[in-house]
Amino acid sequence: MRGRPIAAGSGSTRVEFTYRRMPSVGAMTEEALDNRLRIAVVIGSVRRPRMAEPLAAWLERELGAAHWLDLDMIDLASVSLPMHEMQPGGAAASPISGRLAAADGFVFLTPEYNHSFPAPVKNVIDWHMTEWAYKPVAFVGYGGSGGIRAIEQLRAVFPELRATTVRESVLLPMPWEHLDADGRFVPPPGTEQALHTTIRELRVWAQALRSLRAADPAGRK
Ligand SMILES: Cc1cc2nc3c(=O)[nH]c(=O)nc-3n(C[C@H](O)[C@H](O)[C@H](O)COP(=O)(O)O)c2cc1C
Repeated sequence: MRGRPIAAGSGSTRVEFTYRRMPSVGAMTEEALDNRLRIAVVIGSVRRPRMAEPLAAWLERELGAAHWLDLDMIDLASVSLPMHEMQPGGAAASPISGRLAAADGFVFLTPEYNHSFPAPVKNVIDWHMTEWAYKPVAFVGYGGSGGIRAIEQLRAVFPELRATTVRESVLLPMPWEHLDADGRFVPPPGTEQALHTTIRELRVWAQALRSLRAADPAGRK
């Protein structure tokens, strides 16, 4: 698809160039997306108190309303995955291996700590292996700058586990400035649209990769 020509400069220095718009998944029909999918939200902050609390509640409200998904909220603060007992591949040693294995796709709710993602996020990733394989991962990041550095670094990790990360993401800069009197997160303009676009992309990948896993007798699922 060709985009509109964009003009820059003026007179004899005027330069015209075109840009290509990213193909949208919006055109995909509902019939092509008719499977119910299991989506696990992984809450990446484990400290108390934490900003993750109102943000996870907001995500649960938003995603819980979607008709096509079964939601599993996995709070790493209530999951014991001791680093010194780490067993890549998780299986029986991990209390959440079954939940991760059952998911068709993941949303990581991750803060940014020191220009990266928090240690518990890496720990849960390292503890598991096949649970992530051939599944999509989407990100909702937050922090002073919206968690962008945490997200981009996570994008470098998941291919090792044969997981794919979806292009769209949700960035929440300084979310603490968007809490109401009851401490509920009130998303600033554009945030719900970003979440909608991200989750739609996750859905497309989750459906496609579920078919791939189901069709693969070699045990990649
Ligand atoms: C150890 C630590 C390091 C942080 N480093 C960054 C940072 O590099 N960039 C940023 O935007 N925010 C940074 N922050 C701010 C956090 O993103 C912000 O406090 C966020 O709300 C933390 O999420 P939580 O309360 O759910 O743990 C840092 C916070 C902590 C605790």
